[in-house]
Amino acid sequence: MTAEQAIAVLGTGAMGAGIAQVAAVHGWSVMLIDCDPEIAARSREGIGRRLDRQVEKGRMSQADATDALNRLSVVQSDSELESCELLIEAIVENLDVKVKAITPLLECLSSDAIIATNTSSLSVTELGNELGCPNRVAGMHFFNPAPIMKLVEVVRGRESDPAVVDRIAAIASSWNKHVARTADTPGFIVNRVARPYYLEAFRCMEDGLATADLIDETMRTLGGFRMGPLELTDFIGHDVNTATTRTVWECWDRPSRLAPSLMQEQLVTEGRLGKKSGSGVYDWSVKPPVPTIHPNLEAPTTTGLDMTSIKRMTDRINVASENPIQQLVFARILFAVMNEALWARHDGVAEEADIDTAMRYGVNYPRGLFEWMDEIGQELVEETMNSLESMTGEGRFITPE
Ligand code: NAI
Repeated sequence: MTAEQAIAVLGTGAMGAGIAQVAAVHGWSVMLIDCDPEIAARSREGIGRRLDRQVEKGRMSQADATDALNRLSVVQSDSELESCELLIEAIVENLDVKVKAITPLLECLSSDAIIATNTSSLSVTELGNELGCPNRVAGMHFFNPAPIMKLVEVVRGRESDPAVVDRIAAIASSWNKHVARTADTPGFIVNRVARPYYLEAFRCMEDGLATADLIDETMRTLGGFRMGPLELTDFIGHDVNTATTRTVWECWDRPSRLAPSLMQEQLVTEGRLGKKSGSGVYDWSVKPPVPTIHPNLEAPTTTGLDMTSIKRMTDRINVASENPIQQLVFARILFAVMNEALWARHDGVAEEADIDTAMRYGVNYPRGLFEWMDEIGQELVEETMNSLESMTGEGRFITPE
C-alpha cells in the first residue's frame, strides 16, 4: 500500500459508510470522520457486519473481509489526514453545514488533496467557492446503497481543475464503478432525466388512460424496466420524490415537461407517502398491494387517436402488445424520458454516452435512452414525438432544436 492510497470520509451515515466500504474493499485506507468519533466507530462496526454477511454468502473470503475492515480507522485527530489524497464529504444536505465541517479539515489535508462532495442537489461550484479552493472541489455522486449501485456521477464544477475531475473518475473506475461525467447542473443526469418516468405515469392516470397496475406492468413487461414508475415512487417515498421534482423544475425555470403532478402532491398532503407509510399509489397492507387511486377510465381512450407512428415504433423495437392502451402508455412514458435525455444533452449537462451510462447504472434502465433512440431511428423518433405532442398538447414532447 502506498501512502497516497488513503482517503477520508466525512459523514459516516448511510452514504458515507457505503462509500467507505467500497474504498476499503478496493484496497484503500479509509479514515472515518463524523460529528463524534463514537458515531464513526459505530459505522465501522456496521460495515464489519455487512462484510461478514458477504463472507457468509460466499461473495468474499474471510481474509479479504478482515483486511478491508482493518483498513478502516476512526480519526481521533485531524492531523491524521495529512496522507489523504481525497476527502469525500457525505454529511447533511446543507451548504453552510458542509462548509463549516470541511473548512477546519483543509488545514490538515495536504494542499493538493481533492475535496469531493456526494451532494445530490447542491451546487458543487458554490461549495468550492465557499471553501476558497474551487479548483480542488468536484462532485462524486454515489447512489444508494453505494456498495451495490454501480454508478458514480462525476460532477465538474465551473472551476474544477480538469485533472482533479479525471483523477476522481479514475478512482471511481478503479473501485469498479461506472462513471458518468456531468456538468454542475440541477439534478445532474439521473435525478433530472428520470423525472418524466414518474411524472408521465401520473399524467397517464390523470388523463384516465390506465390504472396504476396496468401502467407498472406495461413498463416492466414491454419496456423491461425492473420496476414500474408508480410502484417505484411508492418505494422512494412521495415526499422525497416530489421534493426532487420541485427542485429540478424550479432550477430549470419551470418547463412544462417537468411540472409536478397534482395527483402525486395530493398523496403527500394526505400523508400517503408510499411503502413507508403503508399506503401511496398502492395499499401495502395487503398482499399483493392494490391500487388506491381509481382513474376515471371512461374519459379519453385511444379511439380516434392516430396511433400509426406509435404502432410502427413498437413494431420496430419488438414490443409485444396488441393492446393499444399499453402501447400508448409505453410510448408516452418512454418518449417523455427520451425527450428529457435530449434536453439534458442540449443544455450541456452531459454527452450521450454519459447519459446512457447514468440511466443504465444509476436507475437500472434496461437500455441507454440514446441507444434506444438509435434503434428506433431518428425519423421515427421525431414522428412519434410529434404524434404524442398532438395527443397531449402540453409541450412535453417538444424536442430541442
Ligand atoms: P445520513 O443522515 O445517513 O448521514 C449523515 C452523517 O453525517 C451522519 O452520520 C451525521 O452524524 C454526519 N454529520 C452531520 N453533520 C456533520 C458534521 N457537521 N460534521 C461531521 N459529520 C456530520 O445522510 P446520507 O443519506 O448518508 O446523506 C449524506 C449526503 O449524501 C447528503 O449530501 C445527501 O444528499 C447525499 N446523498 C444521499 C443519498 C441517499 O439516498 N441517502 C444518495 C446520494 C447522495
